[in-house]
Amino acid sequence: MTSRLATQFAKVFGHPPVSAARAPGRIEFIGNHTDYNGGPVLGAAINRSVWAAAAPSPNGLLNFSSEGHPPVSVDPNAPAKLSGPASWANYPLGVWLQLPKFGLRQPAAFDLHVASDLPPGLGLSSSAAIELATALALAALSGASASRETFVKLARAAENEFVGMPCGILDQGCSGFGKKDHLVHIDCRLPAFSNIPLPAGVRLWMFNPHAKHALTDGFYAARHAECQQAAAALNVPFLANASPDQLEAAAYSLPEIPLKRARHVIGEIARVRQVCDALARGDLSETGRLLTASHRSSQHLFENSIPELDNLVDLLAAHPGVLGARLSGGGFGGSVMALTTAAFTLKQAEQIAFAHHQKFHVFPDFLPLQADAGAELLPL
Ligand code: GLA
Repeated sequence: MTSRLATQFAKVFGHPPVSAARAPGRIEFIGNHTDYNGGPVLGAAINRSVWAAAAPSPNGLLNFSSEGHPPVSVDPNAPAKLSGPASWANYPLGVWLQLPKFGLRQPAAFDLHVASDLPPGLGLSSSAAIELATALALAALSGASASRETFVKLARAAENEFVGMPCGILDQGCSGFGKKDHLVHIDCRLPAFSNIPLPAGVRLWMFNPHAKHALTDGFYAARHAECQQAAAALNVPFLANASPDQLEAAAYSLPEIPLKRARHVIGEIARVRQVCDALARGDLSETGRLLTASHRSSQHLFENSIPELDNLVDLLAAHPGVLGARLSGGGFGGSVMALTTAAFTLKQAEQIAFAHHQKFHVFPDFLPLQADAGAELLPL
């Protein structure tokens, strides 16, 4: 991909790139909406990525080009949020704006080209991938280097402050700290990043029902606000600071909706810890049971699922080759992740897709995924 990226770059801009980077998408293994509540989360970087190549620009502008989107040029003296078909460039533009806040020199003007084998809109976090790949490529242009953690925080800040999505650190953290055949564990309050081996013989799958996925359209922010309301009522800075007993003791004083959200988040935090313990002792059936329990909690307490995702989870959970299945990511659309044994193959995945089609008349996409390495600078 690096040589294809360099060729495309030269074709678009008429000169070769000076730096290039790759950043992967992610799956959320378990820990639904625990990240911005200060809890732990388990995810993985996947073997699908975004690549970014950059060079100083001779025309004094910030020039963005991408395989699948219209080109965009921005005056560095008047950077403003983009809308319509140009809005894809808010992610790299937001990263450029954050560089000085993290002690990194901003290139005065640049050309940036982006390529990807990570389908957008599937809930695999192509936004975090474009942010991290851009951050690495632009920092390298000015010869600057920083820790992996700094790049992860910078990418999240770009999304929170410029794109306007109040996400936690799951997506950028997994893209930054991925490791082949490993999960990424994030203790989000610190944050602290580590890797946990995936047991041999298991497989990861994504199923996407092609139903609505729009994190920025208000649902995500609404859930975020309900969690904050619950934390304030419990008198804790984050829901992760409250134990299940504390929550139940105060349950009478919480309005119904924040109480449901808090029950999900606090229960989910416990499930993440139980999954870590189950993985450590090699207990796959307990791991899978907890994954499906996570989905049920999202479905009934956090209420961020949709019927298409529930149907895929129902079909998958009933299959003997499937250990567990759950919605992965923000919700209100996106994808279902399944952890399976090696007995679950493309043929079984197709059968699930057919069964889903019978009910919703839409064929879901499905994709076997591998846990893979995190973001990296690439030699040119
Ligand atoms: C999205 C956000 C993450 C996280 C998940 C839900 O992917 O970007 O920060 O909150 O939703 O767990």
